[in-house]
Amino acid sequence: MKVALGADHAGFHFKESLKRFLEKKGLSYQDLGCDSAAETDYTDFAKAVAFAVAKGEADRGIVICGTGIGSCMAANKVPGVRAALCHETFSAIASRQHNDANVLCLGARVIGEPLAQHVVNVWLDTAFSGDERHRRRIKKISEMEGEAREAR
Ligand code: RB5
Repeated sequence: MKVALGADHAGFHFKESLKRFLEKKGLSYQDLGCDSAAETDYTDFAKAVAFAVAKGEADRGIVICGTGIGSCMAANKVPGVRAALCHETFSAIASRQHNDANVLCLGARVIGEPLAQHVVNVWLDTAFSGDERHRRRIKKISEMEGEAREAR
């Protein structure tokens, strides 16, 4: 599994330690920035990660900003991306089993690194359940992308 990683200045240090965590886990990653703790816009990195996932260049994406909220909003604008903001393991597991989330958003100013790593670990290790009811609902989300384009 290849993971695309992105963070703004608030999530930069988190991203760096997450890289070491992924290496220990034996996963390859693509670091799409930022490259320092100098002020940036979370949108740029959420966009880079979301496009990497949407284009199939990465299997999953993780974006970190201060709260995870702005990154999640931005990533979810990209068709095919299902980004989930998860700060505990119940949501992280459900986002995979029920929603087949392909991008995880984290807030570096909200949770500590040990919990964030635990959340990342279960999120990466949990498969989509594949249940018909969950497929049906995800299909409805995808259909909204086309419907929103037509409504404009
Ligand atoms: C940056 O100050 C902060 O607004 C950003 O990291 C994030 O929390 C946005 O949702």
